[in-house]
Amino acid sequence: MNEGIEQLKEALSFSPENIPLRLHLAELMVKGFMLDDAAAQYQEILNINYGNDKARKGLANVFYKQKKFSAAILVYEALMADNKIVGEELVPFVKCLIKENSHNEAIEIYKKVLQQVPGFKDEEIDSTLRMPTMGNKRRMDEDGDDDFEDDIDDMFGGNEFEDGGSDFLMEKPDLKFEDVGGMKKVKNEISLKIIQPLKNPDLYKAFGKKTGGGILLYGPPGCGKTYLAKATAGEIDAKFINIGLHDILDMWMGNSEKNLHEVFAQARNNAPCVLFFDEVDAIGASRSDLKGSSMRHVINQFLAEMDGVEHSNDGVLILAATNAPWSVDSAFRRPGRFDRVVFVAPPDTEGRVEVLKRHLKGKPTEEIDLAAVAKVTEEYSGADLKAVIDIATEYKLEDSLAKGSIEKITTKDLIKAAKQHKNTTAEWFSTARNYALYANETGLYNDILDYMKIKK
Ligand SMILES: Nc1ncnc2c1ncn2[C@@H]1O[C@H](COP(=O)(O)OP(=O)(O)OP(=O)(O)O)[C@@H](O)[C@H]1O
Ligand SMILES: [Mg+2]
Repeated sequence: MNEGIEQLKEALSFSPENIPLRLHLAELMVKGFMLDDAAAQYQEILNINYGNDKARKGLANVFYKQKKFSAAILVYEALMADNKIVGEELVPFVKCLIKENSHNEAIEIYKKVLQQVPGFKDEEIDSTLRMPTMGNKRRMDEDGDDDFEDDIDDMFGGNEFEDGGSDFLMEKPDLKFEDVGGMKKVKNEISLKIIQPLKNPDLYKAFGKKTGGGILLYGPPGCGKTYLAKATAGEIDAKFINIGLHDILDMWMGNSEKNLHEVFAQARNNAPCVLFFDEVDAIGASRSDLKGSSMRHVINQFLAEMDGVEHSNDGVLILAATNAPWSVDSAFRRPGRFDRVVFVAPPDTEGRVEVLKRHLKGKPTEEIDLAAVAKVTEEYSGADLKAVIDIATEYKLEDSLAKGSIEKITTKDLIKAAKQHKNTTAEWFSTARNYALYANETGLYNDILDYMKIKK
């Protein structure tokens, strides 16, 4: 553990603004109970990137562990106001509220947890707040009390299964391109560059077109990069391996048995397979920054594997995603590597209609004027739209509980919810704009300029 911390500190001394790296360091510190140090790292991240969600969540959690409950509550409240915290993440918030004797608020938040994670139980909370849990459900029902969880389940059909985290696991996604709203151009690029060569290798050979290499998806958070990568695998009935930041960092620090070579080997053995590197800026962070650091080795190995030096990557589709393409070493973009760099913008009007339609499916709604909602959600990401629907759902849930009948979501609810949840892409664009204007030698970021309607 300490060794990992030292290595990360060393790496950070070379690239102090590498936020994924600093977040990981803070997490390791939390694990090692170095709470003051962890808090300092989170604060530092917030200095570099004001409002960073992961850092705020981490900091709140550290405060909670340090028993600084009122400080934790402040951070949690801010996260709640921004709609940045859901499900079990709310549990420590509930506990802080209990410790501070704010029982009513604790109950409100705990209801949200139960609504979002049906069947959730926590002895400490349950014993204080006396919410119905599976164990004492019957007793509550006999008492004639309403069972909150049942109501919620009946009304909204339980909770949708969320796309998982970044475990190094092989899956076979059911998602298809049609499940991804909008993004015609991006889907087309993926199809031409990696799907068609896989399906028609002879045709590509006949035209002397080289295949191989991968696509780097970039853009603001929540606009469907990870989602699209998964759908690419589903589209061609391929397997999907998601290599997340933690896997990569483990490799960097030599902690991991599942080294890069094994990942590529597993993908090759299971072809067709989509190999997806999420937050690739963490690996691709300028190699010159990392001179002499133990991480260089992994980067070079990554490039060799990608080039297929020893083994051909036939049948392996390589995708990567990043929010910070400007931090990715240019060596990654050479021919045969990530030679296609594709901007994944917030969904256009048509895309927003599709995203809304998809996420409203299965919820009780009146006839919704999707175009009207799309109109007031300009520049909202897919994740933002999902948040808007979640907020509208909450309004209706409250109404339904009060009235004892199912109140349907209306267009008005969605528009009101959109006012409450502002889009989260603006911050990204304010950074991206500078790179697109002042570090755009090869026209790499023209798509950003086009999107922002800035003249080239
Ligand atoms: N075009 C879309 N169609 C349908 N759902 C979408 C779309 N874009 C985003 N979403 C929804 O938003 C969620 C977040 O998207 P996703 O995680 O793919 O974003 P991302 O671009 O990978 O973000 P990050 O940069 O933060 O990793 C998805 O799980 C999905 O539910
Ligand atoms: Mg993602």
